[in-house]
Amino acid sequence: MKVAVLGAAGGIGQALSLLLKTQLPAGSELALYDVAPVVPGVAVDLSHIPTAVKVTGHGKDDLGVALTGADIVLIPAGVPRKPGMDRSDLFNINAGIVKTLVEGVAEHCPSACLGIITNPVNTTVAIAAETLKAKGVYDKNKLFGVTTLDVIRAETFVAELKDMDPADVHVPVIGGHSGTTILPLLSQVEGVSFSDDEVASLTTRIQNAGTEVVEAKAGGGSATLSMGQAAARFCLSLAAAMQGENVVEYTYVQIDDGEDADFFAHPVRLGANGVEEILPYGDLSDFEQKAKEDMLEGLRGDIKMGVDFVNG
Ligand SMILES: NC(=O)c1ccc[n+]([C@@H]2O[C@H](COP(=O)([O-])OP(=O)(O)OC[C@H]3O[C@@H](n4cnc5c(N)ncnc54)[C@H](O)[C@@H]3O)[C@@H](O)[C@H]2O)c1
Repeated sequence: MKVAVLGAAGGIGQALSLLLKTQLPAGSELALYDVAPVVPGVAVDLSHIPTAVKVTGHGKDDLGVALTGADIVLIPAGVPRKPGMDRSDLFNINAGIVKTLVEGVAEHCPSACLGIITNPVNTTVAIAAETLKAKGVYDKNKLFGVTTLDVIRAETFVAELKDMDPADVHVPVIGGHSGTTILPLLSQVEGVSFSDDEVASLTTRIQNAGTEVVEAKAGGGSATLSMGQAAARFCLSLAAAMQGENVVEYTYVQIDDGEDADFFAHPVRLGANGVEEILPYGDLSDFEQKAKEDMLEGLRGDIKMGVDFVNG
C-alpha cells in the first residue's frame, strides 16, 4: 500500500502523516509532497519513528516520484481560512492548486483513490472530477471529498451533550462540507433523543465548528489536528477496505441520479476499488428534510463553480 500526501508539510499534512506513519499497515509506503522546502525534513523526522512504514519526502519538482505507484492520494494542499473568511473565499487560490495536483495524479497514478481535503471541498471535488475527465481517466468510484471531520465533530458534540463515551456515538452527516450544506442526521442517532431546541443548536454548532476553530486560532489557520485525525480515519478505512475489510464511511461522492446534487455525502461501502456501494441515507425528520431542501441550491452552485472553473 502506497499513500501519497500532497501538502504534507502543512498543518493538516504533518498531523495526518504522523498518524499514517504510526497506523498504516506494516510494509506500507508514505510519500510526502509539498512545495515548502521543509518537506524532506518532515519526512526525515517521521522516519525516526520505529514502525514498518517507509517515509519519503519530495520537493516541488518531484511530484511524479511522489505519485508513481500510489494506491491512495490525499490532498490537503492549499491555504486555510482566517477569521472572517468563508470556505468559498479560498476558491481563487485553492482551485488552481487542486487542478495542478490532480493533473499530476492523472499522469502518474490514474488508478489511485483520491481524497480531497482542500477547501472549499464542495467545489474542489468537482474540479478534481472535471480535471480527471479532461485527461480521460475519471473513475467516479475513486474520487472522495473527505467530510469525516464533520462526522467526528458531530460525534464529539453529541457525546458531550449527552454525557456518553464518544466511541459509542455514531452520527450520520450528509450533504456537503460548508455551512448549512453540512447536514447532521440527529434523528438517526441510536439510543439518544433530542429536544427540538437541542436539534437546532447542535446542528448549528456542527455546521459552524470549523469557524469555532478558526476564531480560536485567531489568524493562525483552521482545524489541523482534528482534521489530521479525520483524514487518517478515512484513509485507514479506505486502506482496510482495499485489503478486503467491510467498511462504511460518510464521504462526498458523485451521485448518479443527481436528485439532491451531483456530489453529496452519503454512507458509502468501501471496497477494493474505492466506492463499492453508495448506501441510502434513510428517512429524514421534518427538520432535516427542510434543512436539506434549503441548502441544495447553494450546494449545486458550489459544484457548478468547480465544473466551470475547469471547462471555462
Ligand atoms: N476537508 C476538511 O474538513 C478540512 C478541514 C480543515 C481544513 N481544510 C482545508 O485543508 C487545506 C490545508 O489546510 P492546512 O491548515 O493544512 O493549511 P497549511 O497552510 O498549514 O498547509 C497547506 C500546505 O499546502 C502546501 N501547498 C500549497 N500549494 C501547494 C502545491 N501547489 N503543491 C503542494 N503543496 C502545496 C503549503 O506549502 C502548505 O505546506 C485548506 O484548504 C483548508 O481549508 C479542510
